[in-house]
Amino acid sequence: MGADRRRSKPARAPKPNPPRISNRNPDAEGINLPTIALIGPMGAGKTEVGRRLAERLGRPLIDTDALVVERDGRSVSDIFSEESETAFRAKEAEAVVEAAAVPGAVIATGGGVVLDPRNVEALRSSGQVIYLRASAAVAAARLGSGEGRPLLEGTPLGNRIAQLIEDRQDLYRRAAHYELNADGKLEDVVDALVEVWEAVCGPRFGFSLRGDAPRQ
Ligand code: S3P
Repeated sequence: MGADRRRSKPARAPKPNPPRISNRNPDAEGINLPTIALIGPMGAGKTEVGRRLAERLGRPLIDTDALVVERDGRSVSDIFSEESETAFRAKEAEAVVEAAAVPGAVIATGGGVVLDPRNVEALRSSGQVIYLRASAAVAAARLGSGEGRPLLEGTPLGNRIAQLIEDRQDLYRRAAHYELNADGKLEDVVDALVEVWEAVCGPRFGFSLRGDAPRQ
């Protein structure tokens, strides 16, 4: 009798394939993915690392300096010279708020972003903050003539950048969740960041942010 009942049991419907979450869409499933903000001095490679990282992770890239220029219509140098550094900082703060609101964005910031604690608060509350640490010598070599960077005008670039790093080092350290030596090859920095991103976001959201196979 029991055997009869077992036999008459309807065949099980085949299991549907498990849903695959695409990590290429930051808004997938309505999840607000954390942002990843790069801070550090001019010449640390924030823009270039940000560009490569965003590409590797399939995330939007927002460069706050570029956003200021786009919104204002003038270059950073022109904003400094025609208005003031204070005016630039106010525009930068607006750009930070705008960037922090984009889920999953990779945000390349300007070197002075940590001067305003509200910027730090906005970046920390929307995601992870990474300090790209560079020595003055490497930063100076990357900056070349320093063109387009008003704070480097007038004084020997190496001295000025060394002073800025010294003045801001503590601010960078306090603002950041992670600190990375960015003196070497930028691709190595990007590799390290992909690992950080996966460690932070993979477990939280249950899937890998690099490949497209959900983590078990
Ligand atoms: C600044 C850094 C610049 C730019 C502006 C001021 C700074 O950005 O925001 O010239 O105060 O260190 P980068 O760090 O991208 O050069």
